[in-house]
Amino acid sequence: MATLLFACAFGNTQAQETEKSFIRENMEFAAKQYHLMMKTPAQGKERKGLMPHSMRKDGTVSKGSIYLWTSGFFPGSLWYLSDFLGDKPLQDSALVYTRYMEPVKTFTDNHDIGFMMYCSYGNANRFAPKAAYNDILIESAKSLCTRFSPVTGVIKSWNSWRSWNDETRFEYPVIIDNMMNLELLFAASRISGDDTYKNVAVSHALKTSKYHIRKDGSFYHIAMYDPKTGDFIKGETSQGYSDNSAWSRGQGWAIYGFTVVYRETGDKRFLATAEKAADYYINHPNLPADKVAWWDFNAHQEGFTPGIRSNARKLTANYRDASAAALVASALFELSGYVKGKKSELYLETAKKILHSLGSEKYRAKLGENANFIIMHCTGAIPQNSEIDVPLTYADYYFIEALHRYNKILNHEPLF
Ligand code: GLY
Repeated sequence: MATLLFACAFGNTQAQETEKSFIRENMEFAAKQYHLMMKTPAQGKERKGLMPHSMRKDGTVSKGSIYLWTSGFFPGSLWYLSDFLGDKPLQDSALVYTRYMEPVKTFTDNHDIGFMMYCSYGNANRFAPKAAYNDILIESAKSLCTRFSPVTGVIKSWNSWRSWNDETRFEYPVIIDNMMNLELLFAASRISGDDTYKNVAVSHALKTSKYHIRKDGSFYHIAMYDPKTGDFIKGETSQGYSDNSAWSRGQGWAIYGFTVVYRETGDKRFLATAEKAADYYINHPNLPADKVAWWDFNAHQEGFTPGIRSNARKLTANYRDASAAALVASALFELSGYVKGKKSELYLETAKKILHSLGSEKYRAKLGENANFIIMHCTGAIPQNSEIDVPLTYADYYFIEALHRYNKILNHEPLF
């Protein structure tokens, strides 16, 4: 495991107290919104166990099945909130929503089980551990490993991918988001004492750090591999503006994912990749002053052209993605503890700036609005013409996680 070193870059005690009040106010607000969310009556024939996902055009909450990639975020947010606030009823709710997730442990249709099970059961095991959770997490890791091939050395994200540009279909697509599933594998090895899971994670991260990253520190969204030889074929996008652009949430997944792999392995190659990814985000000339990125760093720029079937071709306006910013903030709080001096300060200051932007009225909803989600102005998938300028459950999750981490840093407590 890598060691976290937090130099004391927080100014005076008064400044620290102000920051703590900011964190508490945001956590209390989030808990109020989520209490309202949980009181929302079920609509029509809505089944139990659906998870808050986003907002419909009529302003009501849209929910998703436990098999949707975002299912673990709502229970995960409840775990963080209940831990911070010491709120027992909220913890009971976290438990209820987490239990809905158990059937997902055998899910193998795509790579997303790490998001789903680690945000729910991973947090449950952290804040209120039970032996049964260990088995669930190990089984989930086993399910994820069914998508690993020793030939390619990576976990297959989707069963296939059809290019936006033409009819070409690729049989072994790996998306940068997949870095986020590796935390589950490290946990499974720690719990079981079996390094198989961890070895899969390291293999995946090594190959991703070789082929997914571009020279400038930006990332392809999708890397295509040949399943027979394991060779890298090419990079494309699904949710970004164009194949050669930098989709901002993908950049966030890279910063966060490589930071986790460095945490778990102590291997400096992963730290270097995390830093490159972070430096790209922070230093980009198109990053707005509030540090909340546009949905793609290259949208509408010369030299970047969406594929012929992509809805991004029709786009005239530009949109922020507050979900990308939230996850970058959370990652930077951790990453700032692995580097020293000015760089550490820069990462910490950027994370703080993002949190203050997201906590401002520009991005934070008013009580009872925004379908009771916390953060506004997120972008799901413009090429698919889906979830544009809406709340998204994962923006809330990473905002809350970032607040939780920041609080620990201010209190000189270990993050993990
Ligand atoms: N993992 C899917 C997304 O970031 O939209």
